[in-house]
Amino acid sequence: MGRDHRQTTLSASGGVDELEDINWTFEGTDTQYLTHGLHNYPARMVPKIPDTLLGHYKDQGIIEEGDLVYDPFSGSGTTAVEGRLHGLNAEGNDINPFAVMLSEAKAIPLERGSLSEARDALVDGLSPDLLDVRDEYEQAGEVEWLEMPDVRDGWFPEPQLHELAVLRDRIDTIEDKFGTEYARFFRLVLSHTTRKTSYQRNGEYKRYRLSEEDRTDHNPDVEAIFKKKLKQNMEKMREYSNRVDHTLDTTIHYSDSRTAVEDVGENKADIVITSPPYGDHQTTVAYGQFSQDPALLTGKVTYDEMKDVDKTGLGGRYDILESMSDLEDYSPTLEATLDTLREKDGRADDAVDFFRDYYAVMEQVGEITKSGQPVAWVVANRTMSRVNIPTHLITRELCESLGYEFDMNLPREIPNKTLPWENAPENVEGTKGDLMANENIVILRAP
Ligand SMILES: C[S@@+](CC[C@H](N)C(=O)[O-])C[C@H]1O[C@@H](n2cnc3c(N)ncnc32)[C@H](O)[C@@H]1O
Repeated sequence: MGRDHRQTTLSASGGVDELEDINWTFEGTDTQYLTHGLHNYPARMVPKIPDTLLGHYKDQGIIEEGDLVYDPFSGSGTTAVEGRLHGLNAEGNDINPFAVMLSEAKAIPLERGSLSEARDALVDGLSPDLLDVRDEYEQAGEVEWLEMPDVRDGWFPEPQLHELAVLRDRIDTIEDKFGTEYARFFRLVLSHTTRKTSYQRNGEYKRYRLSEEDRTDHNPDVEAIFKKKLKQNMEKMREYSNRVDHTLDTTIHYSDSRTAVEDVGENKADIVITSPPYGDHQTTVAYGQFSQDPALLTGKVTYDEMKDVDKTGLGGRYDILESMSDLEDYSPTLEATLDTLREKDGRADDAVDFFRDYYAVMEQVGEITKSGQPVAWVVANRTMSRVNIPTHLITRELCESLGYEFDMNLPREIPNKTLPWENAPENVEGTKGDLMANENIVILRAP
């Protein structure tokens, strides 16, 4: 359905239903409400984006309660949470096992009564246990009965690392008694505590260690951090649990969206809302590095699995696809971009790898989504070798070559971020316009 066919009417809720009239920047909006605030994650989508899109398409009768929203790059599960808040089932993929855990923990509501019972069981006798393990460590230099997590030496203060391991074992006991869903909820609290306890600098997604001097002063109170976050998260989960339908389904596959049809199936999704990675896992936004220690501390993920995350990401080192020489034929903008990169001796090959992988996902999403239903790609326009990559135009053209029908492009700014292209004057000719926006929401209808 093209632009001209859409009607401009007031929605049932009285809101404007012309998507172009909305300011998609959502500056100052709360991004931590309900379970969105359970744990942070790199490059999260602003919850207002899926919220507004889902509300709009429901008002228009294009989707309805009980339908399925799909996200091939689930990340922290923003789409899945908003899906449930709008009465939808949700499915997703992610190659980061920590993201899978996070998405499910945030989107699947827990029963209030059982949650309080499980919490009581978890904290009962916790303080003396933590004291005991610290004492034993300080006296003997090791605690024989405690299995230590497989984290790199020198990234944690040792006494506190022992306390984290005790918490991990207690949560395993909760799993036996209350089930995985409850244990997973507590594992997020542990994971937050792990980040705060480690020498990894907070506020950075790559692994940087505190300076030696700062490490000496770093003496975190594990129990206090854990209990404070536990209280906050319990409150958020209770509120979420009250608001949503507990009979809906959320399934996040721990698998590659380049082959997602295998897991998800064809012709299933009624709507897709996703934000793909930028293709810079190894450099800027390292999802795997961010999650490594928190994931290892849960005891449910191995070091090898975490090591692979940034390599399996789109454009990463693990190719599962043949390189495609004709990709450029499908997108004039991609061709122009690659020509510019080649002239500048830039990273044309990296860009080709990334778009080849991304194209594979577009193909899979096309099969997973019911024909004519909306697919929204929230994409950032990054620079490579100081060349602007107009990802929104390339997304549109590649999708159109697969039979998608373009619907609209909604530009948005990312508040409080330096624009990467402010220092990169070289533009690919003919691709100005929305390039000035930080991000674009490209909406197409599935083939
Ligand atoms: C920009 S983040 C998504 C953030 C998400 N929208 C949120 O709000 O948290 C991109 C995600 O894609 C995942 N990813 C990268 N390559 C993937 C692939 N080939 N298959 C599945 N997931 C992948 C990364 O692990 C990361 O979690």
